[in-house]
Amino acid sequence: MNNRSNLRIYRRFAPLYDRFMYSWTAGSRRKTIELLDLKPGDRLFIPGVGTGLDLPFVPSETLTTAVDPSPMMLRQALSKYDSPVGFLIMDVQILAFPSGLFDAVLINLILSVVPDGAIAMEEIWRVLKPGGRVVIFDKFLPESSSLSSVRLLLGKLIRQIGTDPNRRLSTIIQEVPEALVLADQPVLLNGQYRIILLSKPMV
Ligand SMILES: C[S@@+](CC[C@H](N)C(=O)[O-])C[C@H]1O[C@@H](n2cnc3c(N)ncnc32)[C@H](O)[C@@H]1O
Repeated sequence: MNNRSNLRIYRRFAPLYDRFMYSWTAGSRRKTIELLDLKPGDRLFIPGVGTGLDLPFVPSETLTTAVDPSPMMLRQALSKYDSPVGFLIMDVQILAFPSGLFDAVLINLILSVVPDGAIAMEEIWRVLKPGGRVVIFDKFLPESSSLSSVRLLLGKLIRQIGTDPNRRLSTIIQEVPEALVLADQPVLLNGQYRIILLSKPMV
């Protein structure tokens, strides 16, 4: 997947996204926000916010910055928030923010979509404050499984709709070796989808 194909796919998918993605993901979205334990005034960063399905769960005193390269997806997000949200068109792999700006980052269904998940993670880590938290909700290839030919083929098909089920979390977070994994819970489809909470050490 590259940026151009993602833009094309999500432009088409934008009007249908909520119909397909809301009901079965809502419980996991609520859980990710609870894990972040946001305090009033915390700066929350949501890269790849898409149509904003996470926004209704964000506490109203949070200061949220949400980015996505797809104007069509962002347009859908404009009606879904109670807390203050700044929306920007931006690629998570090249963030135009200073280091250490955000208290918390929410990465739902993004690391399996962006062209390079490890670069995205490195950028997210850069803009996170020491002591900050990152929560991830996504599907990953289980660390213990090898990539079977059936799964490889399935992955190629699924990539046509803008997401890759065959990435390993360990490969993506290898660029941030100091990350502390505070939680790693299976949530959907027999653990194909997981919620992971990371924290950035103070020093
Ligand atoms: C599967 S959707 C997830 C949207 C939202 N996070 C959610 O949980 O519903 C993937 C989103 O990633 C966005 N995306 C694709 N490439 C990106 C990039 N390089 N940087 C940031 N977002 C990207 C797409 O435009 C799309 O909105």
